[in-house]
Parts: sequence; C-alpha cells; structure tokens
Amino acid sequence: MKVAPNLILIGPMGAGKSSIGRRLARRLGLQFVDADVELERQTGATVALIFELEGEVGFRERERALLAGLCAGRGQVIATGGGAVLDAHTRRQLAESGFVIYLKIDLDRQLQRLARDRQRPLLQAPDRRERLSALSAQRAPLYAEIADLELDSGRLNVAMATHRLAELLQDRWQSPCAAGAA
Ligand code: S3P
Repeated sequence: MKVAPNLILIGPMGAGKSSIGRRLARRLGLQFVDADVELERQTGATVALIFELEGEVGFRERERALLAGLCAGRGQVIATGGGAVLDAHTRRQLAESGFVIYLKIDLDRQLQRLARDRQRPLLQAPDRRERLSALSAQRAPLYAEIADLELDSGRLNVAMATHRLAELLQDRWQSPCAAGAA
C-alpha cells in the first residue's frame, strides 16, 4: 500500500489520461487537473502555440514548472502530458507526490484514436506510425521506471478502465488523510 497525496496518470498521447482521469477523480471525490489544460489556462496560449513560439524546449520548461507546483498540492488526480516523464527531476517529483498510474496502449489503437488529431505538435509528422513508435521506444522505460500500477487502456472504454482502476487502487493506494484517520 502506497500512501501518497495525489493520483498521477502518465503514458503516451491517446492512452486516455484525461478522459479516464476526469472520471476517476469524480468517482473518488478528488479534484481533476489536466496539466496541458492548466498550462493553457495559465499562459493564455495553446500548447501548439507554445511549441510554435518557444519550441519543445520552452514547452518542457513550462511543463516542468507547472508540474512542480501541482505536485505540491494534494487530493488531485493529475493527467500529465505524454512527455512529462522526460525530465528526471519531474519523474522524481511525480513518484514522490503521487501514486503513479501508467496507462498503456498499443500502437495500432493509438494511431486509430489520434487519427483525427490536428493539434498535438509532435503528431504533425509525415509518418505518424514512425513518430509514435520512436517516442514509445524512448519513453516506455521512463514510464515504467516510476509506475506504481500499469493498465492497458487500449482494450477498455473509459468507464471500464475507470472501474478497473478504482478496484485496483483499493488495496494499493491510500491518501495521507485516510491513513491518518485509520
Ligand atoms: C506531448 C503530449 C501532449 C502535450 C504535448 C506534448 C508529448 O499531451 O503535452 O503536445 O510530448 O507526448 P497528451 O499526452 O495529453 O496528448
């Protein structure tokens, strides 16, 4: 049983971090925060525009600062962006401040789910399969490094994945408030 103040969702684009996270938060009575949406709210710029103006490096700096702030809070389900784990310091913070759920998805399903996406800057590549597979080769070990729980979300719809996670969390995760009360 891991005692941690937040639940944190990591994994590649299209794995369902936002949709499952929102539903899981509602089910558990926690606050839901989508890191990309929060960044867009704070900066007044879309992720795509930040990439365009400041490059991926600028985006990663902002993402790192934002997640550091979120990790200081509690009682949240945090959906991170797919590349949040690239930074070693952020990985440590995520692992320390949360129970980390790694949502996995196979490449074919990922391509299907993202087929209509025209917003995500890293998807704007001539060969999406090649791009996603390269990102996966680089990031899968980083996701696995900090995961407290892994769930293959590819075969499950949002409701089923949320239900399964809530079940699994029952004897794996405890919030500090609940631990104090016990
Ligand atoms: C990114 C994933 C996106 C967003 C940005 C970069 C990535 O978030 O943070 O476009 O590096 O994989 P989602 O994983 O929510 O799509």
